[in-house]
Amino acid sequence: MEQKHGKIAEPIKWVVEDPERKEVWWPSPELKKRAWVSDESIYEQSGKDPIAFWAALAREGLHWFKEWDKTYEQDPPYFRWFIGGKINASYNAVDRHISTEKRYKAAIIWEPEPLDEPARVLTYYDLYREINKFANALKSLGVGKGDRVGIYLPMIPEVQIAMLACARIGAIHSVVFSAFSADSLRSRLMDAEAKVLITADGYYRRGKIINLKAEADEGIKGTTVEKVVVVKRAGLNVPMLEGRDLWWHELMKGAAAYCEPEPMDSEDTLFILYTSGTTGKPKGVVHTTGGYLTQAYWTTKWDFDIHDDDLFWCTADIGWITGHTYACYGPLLLGATMLMYEGAPDYPEPDRWWAIIEKYGVSIFYTAPTAIRMFVKYGEEWPRKHDLSSLRILGTVGEPIDREAWLWYFYNIGGGRCPIIDTWWQTETGGTLINSLPGIGPFIPTVAGRSFPGTRHVVLDENGRRVGVGETGSLVQLSPFAPGMLRGIYKDPERYKELYFSKYGDEIYYTHDGAKVWDETYNIRLGGREDDVMKVAGHRLATAEVETALTDHEAVAEAAVVPAPHEIKGEVPVAFVVLKKGWEPSEALEKEIVAKVVKAIGPTAKPQAVFFVHDLPKTRSGKIMRRILRSLMKGEPVGDTTTLMNPEVVEELKARVAGAASK
Ligand code: WT7
Repeated sequence: MEQKHGKIAEPIKWVVEDPERKEVWWPSPELKKRAWVSDESIYEQSGKDPIAFWAALAREGLHWFKEWDKTYEQDPPYFRWFIGGKINASYNAVDRHISTEKRYKAAIIWEPEPLDEPARVLTYYDLYREINKFANALKSLGVGKGDRVGIYLPMIPEVQIAMLACARIGAIHSVVFSAFSADSLRSRLMDAEAKVLITADGYYRRGKIINLKAEADEGIKGTTVEKVVVVKRAGLNVPMLEGRDLWWHELMKGAAAYCEPEPMDSEDTLFILYTSGTTGKPKGVVHTTGGYLTQAYWTTKWDFDIHDDDLFWCTADIGWITGHTYACYGPLLLGATMLMYEGAPDYPEPDRWWAIIEKYGVSIFYTAPTAIRMFVKYGEEWPRKHDLSSLRILGTVGEPIDREAWLWYFYNIGGGRCPIIDTWWQTETGGTLINSLPGIGPFIPTVAGRSFPGTRHVVLDENGRRVGVGETGSLVQLSPFAPGMLRGIYKDPERYKELYFSKYGDEIYYTHDGAKVWDETYNIRLGGREDDVMKVAGHRLATAEVETALTDHEAVAEAAVVPAPHEIKGEVPVAFVVLKKGWEPSEALEKEIVAKVVKAIGPTAKPQAVFFVHDLPKTRSGKIMRRILRSLMKGEPVGDTTTLMNPEVVEELKARVAGAASK
């Protein structure tokens, strides 16, 4: 289709900087002119006094009931921001806007998966009213400040309403991705000691209705959950337990219209979000209020250059940190309009996303490399059916993006006009930290960019020395730490210290990512995880989690899980399994073992292959050498095997893997 250039999408002339390195793009004059930030001196300015820099941003971006007494304090490995400041997240997300011309502006445009169902539009005033009522409903269930509330909801606006209602009364939300299994939900609810769970009857996915309530019923068994609030989304006839289960719409009927927002301390916990670490047990990443909101506000505004007439679409599910920060807090703090979509990207056809962009005129689009790779496979005829000229900025997050996917995204979705903002960050960092800014650039395939103003990241070698330009090492963050950084792991201070503040001491945050210093201005290319954490379709998964699920099967004596490269998902887990005496490998057993993993974690964790072997490669001290298995799966040479206790197993492993590949 002809690209009709609308108001927003002025054609942009890209300037090629260096003929030797052709793939460097810079912002056009139009882009620069419109951008909130376009002067490179912001990096130097903010670097002179990052604490004062963030203080000014916190003051300008947010409403504080009481200003802080001290901006920053560090007591390694802990640190605090805006100490003594009083603030409320929901007040900043909605109350502030309803006294301005944003009162009837769309806050959320929600597109359901079924094509024949109308969209839902919630204005800031609608959202304000619903949040207030639901906050009162939560109070009526006995939820108060500091209580934990589990949220297990699909992509429907009730998820933002529930999160902000918690924030309004000072309750701590812990959102669990709706595609996680009942077992995963249970372990998270137990660790958080949640009092209430908010869920739905079901939701639409690829034309089918998924029964979420059944998973929730299973998942709350044996937990501290006293009440379950159920949103009626799919019209399923689900069992409601008398005295425990309540319908959302019935609770809302009786709820009063206004709920006073609780003045929270800047360092009070806003939410806990569970993520995979290196062990079998997910950890509860703790985020506090003032610092997180400050980083959410400014990164959303500057990274995506959001203005009042933009429509921002972050495709991430709310169950991940990207959804928390860029499909809830960030855009709402700004008073922006966001799009939210319930269903699968390729349902009913592979152009659903492109159809949505065209229908609503999305101007800023933020997604993940795994999705882009999937669309590369479907082919460029799908986006070509649609007028995508409303787009002006593109973003990506979750894993390193390869050059081919970057260029495909740039030309086929962005029409060569839109900069790609490749944002590096983590569940732990709360908001983005390394990326180029739209008005400054440069935009280079596979290179994320520079540290966000007011933050500092460097690349260190094994001895803690900074590496030079063109060299690789470990990515770390230096203090003062970014305001949105985690403040701990829920109920596990030891793990917090060990994971992030032990490799280079307690004053340097270790990211667990490898990185390369790209150039003199310290643009950074990310190189992937240095630990046993996989990225499966952008989702974080520890090999140890899958191993724990495998060894829970009665037939399994030992298991090792490593990532194997995958064209679309990036990585997928494969399992090497040693059976107990008396068990024989069979297809039926393989199926059973795979099902066990899906039940324990969810479909993302499903091993792509299970190799039954007699032994695993081990060091003399008995440690499994996953490095060898990883190399085998990548088809790389296995390297030195002399330190193995049982070097002879390598031949068997090679044969097993080669056999599977030739099948
Ligand atoms: C890990 C964090 C933060 C939102 C989603 C992921 C990898 C993330 C990038 C990027 C290269 C990236 C890192 C990081 N990662 N963004 N733009 N380029 N790698 O959050 O699940 O906590 O995963 O994702 O390895 O450590 P997460």
